[in-house]
Amino acid sequence: MTKQDIVNRLIDPPRQPAVESASAYAPVNIALCKYWGKRDEELNLPVTSSLSISLAGKGTETKVALHDEPHDALSINGNEVSPTAKAAQRMSGFLDLFRGERQRSFRVETESNIPIAAGLASSASAFASLVKALNDLFGWALGGQSLSILARMGSGSACRSVYDGFVEWHVGVAEDGMDCFAEPLEQTWPALRLGLVTVSDAEKPIGSRAAMKRTRETCALYESWPVKVADDLICLKEAIRERDFERLGATAESNALAMHATMIATWPPVLYWLPESVATMHRIWELRDKGLPLYFTMDAGPNVKLLFEEAHAEEIVDTFPGAEIIVPFPS
Ligand code: PMV
Repeated sequence: MTKQDIVNRLIDPPRQPAVESASAYAPVNIALCKYWGKRDEELNLPVTSSLSISLAGKGTETKVALHDEPHDALSINGNEVSPTAKAAQRMSGFLDLFRGERQRSFRVETESNIPIAAGLASSASAFASLVKALNDLFGWALGGQSLSILARMGSGSACRSVYDGFVEWHVGVAEDGMDCFAEPLEQTWPALRLGLVTVSDAEKPIGSRAAMKRTRETCALYESWPVKVADDLICLKEAIRERDFERLGATAESNALAMHATMIATWPPVLYWLPESVATMHRIWELRDKGLPLYFTMDAGPNVKLLFEEAHAEEIVDTFPGAEIIVPFPS
């Protein structure tokens, strides 16, 4: 089964553009229960379900149009990107799925307001916004499930960035991944806050795709990961329904640490933490011991994402003055 087979099934027949150009926005997302490991590398099918929160106003706006040049063109935040650059090659590889018989090429302009230095995965909002913009350009009129499946084939976690708020990505069982898409949860949590603590903006030693693969192949602890995820998903959904912050925070933090434990137990080991990441964790634990309801999560990088509620924002901003505070459910 190839990505092209799936695209042909979802979009039939290939169409001419409905409009000259189209723009769409998608937010970045941070997983409270992580996606770590693929069961199908080609289609980006995960080993487990996962659950995230979209960051509302932090994301990517993408404008797409067909153009008459022989090759695709990409600009990021107003700067033309060389066609040989990694980002351009990755995007063109994805656009190959939509060129049709005439092998059309595209011009793509993206604008992100994501603090890149904070190590947020901008590929998730980039692919989700590109898929939404292509949907408008060609007038496919696809629903959320199909858009999520298409975005997933660009970057796994992009399937969650199709939506705002809390989002669950269903693992599915089908070999073709047609039941493997994300859906929004109906609950909101206006008092919830995230704080992005930037420890380093240096390029990661190993990307998440390669690190997940190595974990699956060599980590003896990995077999316990799906068991942990199944429990954590139940806890998180209950915590969200009951607005139980301590349960949400504790489950998200423990899930992130378990993911990192599988990476550390991989060979050769994958350790994204820097001494400052560990110092930040100790600081959080000290504050929590003193009664402050503050938790964290971390992704495939050294930066720390704080989880707290509005009532404690002042104290947390004082302690972490460099942190960028995000309101995932703006009023
Ligand atoms: O979608 P990818 O390939 O960027 O992988 C994302 C992996 C994590 O960010 C570590 C976890 C997650 O669920 O977002």
